[in-house]
Amino acid sequence: MIKVDISGALGFVSEDEMRKINAKEPLEKLETLYENGWMRVPSAYNKDLSDKIKNIAKKISDESEVLVVLGIGGSYLGARAAIEFIKSPNYNLLRKKTPDIMFAGNNLSGEYLDEIIRLIGDRNFSVNVVSKSGSTIETAIALRFFKELLKNKYGPIGLRDRLYITSDIGSPLIKMAQENNHAYLEMPPEVGGRYSVLTVVGLLPCAVAGIDIDEIMAGAKEEFENGIDEASLYATARQALYRKGRNIEMLACFEPAFKYTGEWWKQLFGESEGKESKGIFPAYADYSADLHSLGQLIQEGERNLMETFVSFSEPRINPIIPGGEMHIDKINPIVGFNMHKVNNSAAIAVMKAHIDGGVPVLELNLPKLSASSFGALAYFFMRSCAISSLISGVNPFGQPGVEAYKKNLFAILGL
Ligand code: PA5
Repeated sequence: MIKVDISGALGFVSEDEMRKINAKEPLEKLETLYENGWMRVPSAYNKDLSDKIKNIAKKISDESEVLVVLGIGGSYLGARAAIEFIKSPNYNLLRKKTPDIMFAGNNLSGEYLDEIIRLIGDRNFSVNVVSKSGSTIETAIALRFFKELLKNKYGPIGLRDRLYITSDIGSPLIKMAQENNHAYLEMPPEVGGRYSVLTVVGLLPCAVAGIDIDEIMAGAKEEFENGIDEASLYATARQALYRKGRNIEMLACFEPAFKYTGEWWKQLFGESEGKESKGIFPAYADYSADLHSLGQLIQEGERNLMETFVSFSEPRINPIIPGGEMHIDKINPIVGFNMHKVNNSAAIAVMKAHIDGGVPVLELNLPKLSASSFGALAYFFMRSCAISSLISGVNPFGQPGVEAYKKNLFAILGL
């Protein structure tokens, strides 16, 4: 369960002002007016679905040393976030029995594509193309490259058996899968791209990486059943601060494994709230590294920021600072301290400094970096994002503005 602490914001907005922002109506709207299929994803998850995903993951792991996931936005950020959060940001470099997971189709750089292909080298690989619409240009171009690679290396049968499709029923990709006998997983049609991490979209790459997907979903289910008050509190606190001119939210964490969860969060909140000339700009800071780059601005720059800290009560691993003969670094008094204590002390010090410097602080606490924490946090953020968007009066589920660049690009390319 996620715990929300708003005490670091109360010097900037009163509890009374916060109470005036009522989350009840948005919650009712979520249940009745808007697409709400994603809300029930944790309770709809069952053994059949779990077995289906695990069987495909096993086949991929048995046959391949690399899985390439092709997708962009909600079709890849969640899987990448989960793997880095639960396994490691250096997952591919670890000694392990599970395949490397590489991501492509999330940009238009030829250099990036070429490098992924070179990194696969002569290893056996499979491809999971993920696209809800089945027609996103970045993913479609990458798919052309990887279909050709599969065909050249494994022939038509290998191409058929090593290409896995995740898409909406009725999409051009599912039609292609049915016509060519590729294995496919259907996305629940009522779940939008950036709300899809807890579906086959995020769960298949996680299962291939050896993550216990049932544990992810157990965490999400617990949050679904018991986390509504905390999600509403986070949503109302950030909207109350927005009304006070805090139009940038800096999500910050002291664990590098959280970085891609920050990237996923940016898409979720940015695309859901940024409409009708409204929206809190979502930014992410990786502490303590970014204290040495963004820290000055946060401490003393324009006072339009709010900051949300994510912390973990228990470390997965907790090394002790060694002694040795180096005395010039002046850190002898902390020899023998564990790293969690130092990292935690830094978080407390930074929060206090930023509050004193005029930045309201919200805190989200989780037990530890684990599969169930990831599931809980993903659900918590999706729910609070939908509530927060509805409080500000925008529909959390469309992204009409994303079409503008596509229209221009298609005109330039003559598509
Ligand atoms: O949230 C969304 O719906 C979008 O950001 C999509 O995830 C993104 O545009 C990719 O779309 P698709 O999955 O259709 O390729």
